[in-house]
Amino acid sequence: MKIVPKHRATGSAAVPAVSNLLKGVNDLKKLPVRVKVRFDGSAVYVPENLMDKFVVRGGNPLLGNIRVSGAKNAALPAMAAAILTDEPVVLENIPDVRDIQTERNLLVSMGAEVELGYGKAHHRTTICCRDLVNPEAAYELVKTMRASTLVLGPLVARMGRARVSLPGGCAIGARPIDLHIKGLEQLGATIRQEHGYIEASAERLRGGHIVFDKITVTGTEDLMMAAALAQGETLMENCAREPEVADLAALLNKMGARIEGAGTATIRIKGVTKLSGARHRIIPDRIEAGTFVIAAALTGGDLTVTNCDPSHLSALLQKLQECGVTVSVQRDSVRIKNGHRLKAAGMSTEEYPGFPTDMQAQYMTLATQAEGTSVITENIFENRFMHAQELVRMGANIKVEGSRAIVRGHTPLSGAAVQCSDLRASASLVIAALVAEGETILDRVYHIDRGYERIEEKLKGANAQIRRIGEILPKRAQVPAGVA
Ligand code: EPU
Repeated sequence: MKIVPKHRATGSAAVPAVSNLLKGVNDLKKLPVRVKVRFDGSAVYVPENLMDKFVVRGGNPLLGNIRVSGAKNAALPAMAAAILTDEPVVLENIPDVRDIQTERNLLVSMGAEVELGYGKAHHRTTICCRDLVNPEAAYELVKTMRASTLVLGPLVARMGRARVSLPGGCAIGARPIDLHIKGLEQLGATIRQEHGYIEASAERLRGGHIVFDKITVTGTEDLMMAAALAQGETLMENCAREPEVADLAALLNKMGARIEGAGTATIRIKGVTKLSGARHRIIPDRIEAGTFVIAAALTGGDLTVTNCDPSHLSALLQKLQECGVTVSVQRDSVRIKNGHRLKAAGMSTEEYPGFPTDMQAQYMTLATQAEGTSVITENIFENRFMHAQELVRMGANIKVEGSRAIVRGHTPLSGAAVQCSDLRASASLVIAALVAEGETILDRVYHIDRGYERIEEKLKGANAQIRRIGEILPKRAQVPAGVA
């Protein structure tokens, strides 16, 4: 079998080989497995229950610096935007996380060429969608990453048709895509739903007036991409104002789109007939930055979170100041110094610029150590408190009542075996483990790997005691004939 080193793999050369391998092994085992291809050409499979774990020993304050990676939630729509042109799009500051690999596989399955930088440039990717052949996002990919639905708008706009699996429910809530569909209809697409797939078609989309019933981040992004190539002008109201939406518009405008107002509730798009290639640097990940900021405040550390945009963290930093944390902000870094006791402060999640739902779980961990009672209200997703139960197992006092969690603070946490359930819930457990007494073992850390780049290495570099286990496989597994 030909092995292509991971960092040199170009999509068309490497991905099909690995996906064939996966298919063969999956067929054999009928179990969720991870396949590892070694450099000597052998392959091993690891059943899910043997996947990586983190072992964390609590008690160390976070000290020094941590550098933030590019924003996953800005990189995903930027990669989808490459569908809109037959010229190469070069994206820099792409985080090395699993969701990005999933999107890369999705684009490759459609016929895109995805080239990865290597060495110092391994955060750069070049995507060329000149020869798209298969405008489809299959269930297998969409179910692991809902953001796959971001290809819907660009595919209809560029190829005149798209077949994208409906995402179904997920760990944090129902997450329907009705607003994406309604918006595309407004732009003239014909939509059919069959066998769990959305099939959309349009000879050429035309501009329209879209008023979102509810604010949706990827919905705004999906329709902004579709409208960029539509005939005539589109007015979108009640749009998401997240920095990731503005970053996508910046990329699209570099590609020749005419978009105004991204980052506000009203976006105007004058459709053009063709978009060209461009080079763009993805904004820093505000949720990763916020996670380290909370971890520093919680552990009583002195940490500078670098390469971030503090203006994207305003709601969080204000809340932390209310909790008694000393925050100092520089142009592209935030220093957190916390020698005092934390005070409880209630918090409600809201769309940007409000407190992000993606920081709610981490904030709940902080609230377990603050003096007093914090009422945390989750307004964006209906089922985003799965971390609460695991925190209770570590000694927290949390009562969940519908969309509210009542956290009685200042309860000591003790290390335990805990399960990660979704990306941000997992982050909250990692930072709980940093202050727990004794050792915590976190299972299913593949959830963290979806959106945090080498979190354990970054934390270890800032004085935390954390290590990943399960990387070294005890023995070579049998691989079925014809697979390796
Ligand atoms: N909604 C609908 N219909 C739709 C779309 C959304 O009812 O067609 C509802 C959702 O069910 C939810 C609310 O609207 O209740 C907001 O959902 P939104 O569409 O804004 O979420 P999303 O675009 O699917 C993005 C991020 C999430 C983040 C949310 C909210 C990406 C790739 N994902 O999701 O990030 O939580 O916005 O800020 O940008 C994460 O990174 O861990 C993550 C989950």
